[in-house]
Amino acid sequence: MTEPATRHLVTVVVCGAGPAPQVHRLVELAQARGWAVAVTATPAALAFLDVPKLEELTGNRVRSEYRKPGESPTRSLPEADAVVVAPATYNTICKLALGINDTYALGTLAEAIGRGVPVAVLPFVNTALAARKPFAAAVESLCSEGVRVLFGPGKWEPHSPGTGGNRIDTFPWGAVLDAAEVLPLTTPG
Ligand SMILES: Cc1cc2nc3c(=O)[nH]c(=O)nc-3n(C[C@H](O)[C@H](O)[C@H](O)COP(=O)(O)O)c2cc1C
Repeated sequence: MTEPATRHLVTVVVCGAGPAPQVHRLVELAQARGWAVAVTATPAALAFLDVPKLEELTGNRVRSEYRKPGESPTRSLPEADAVVVAPATYNTICKLALGINDTYALGTLAEAIGRGVPVAVLPFVNTALAARKPFAAAVESLCSEGVRVLFGPGKWEPHSPGTGGNRIDTFPWGAVLDAAEVLPLTTPG
């Protein structure tokens, strides 16, 4: 990062799906809008990422695991002012809606939603996964909690199985950042 950040912190949560290697595009977009950025990766996402490159770009460690018991009890970063999940997998979306908290990324998201922080989710799933009732229910449930899920007609649509590679270059990183930049639903205090 060359210019000092003038806005507060956005956390980018990245899951294990096709566009993940391009997440630096989202980081650079956010930085150009004045955000400081921290990346949180699911364990599955790590295999897709160039972690040293992201750490150099953001100036922050890529987080993917909880601290170990006995490690420093204080958080090394302030609470985020906005959270973007991109790309969001079928797996993380379904687990998040159910309240499952078995990755550091899911814990970050659960807390952000609970605090009323703007959270925007951009799924990258195929039509077979998107057709499942648990997925539709998860999207509906997250929306009912105030999470902005960019999915469906006129937003971002699922792709046919086996064709995701054709859509990576048009993945709408800017749109999901726009969605996270709107004001929170609740104001603290
Ligand atoms: C090369 C590769 C591409 C994948 N692409 C997707 C994808 O586009 N969407 C998706 O939901 N899962 C995809 N998966 C499967 C997820 O990585 C898998 O469900 C994983 O458990 C997700 O974990 P996470 O939600 O914690 O990131 C892909 C897996 C691999 C190895």
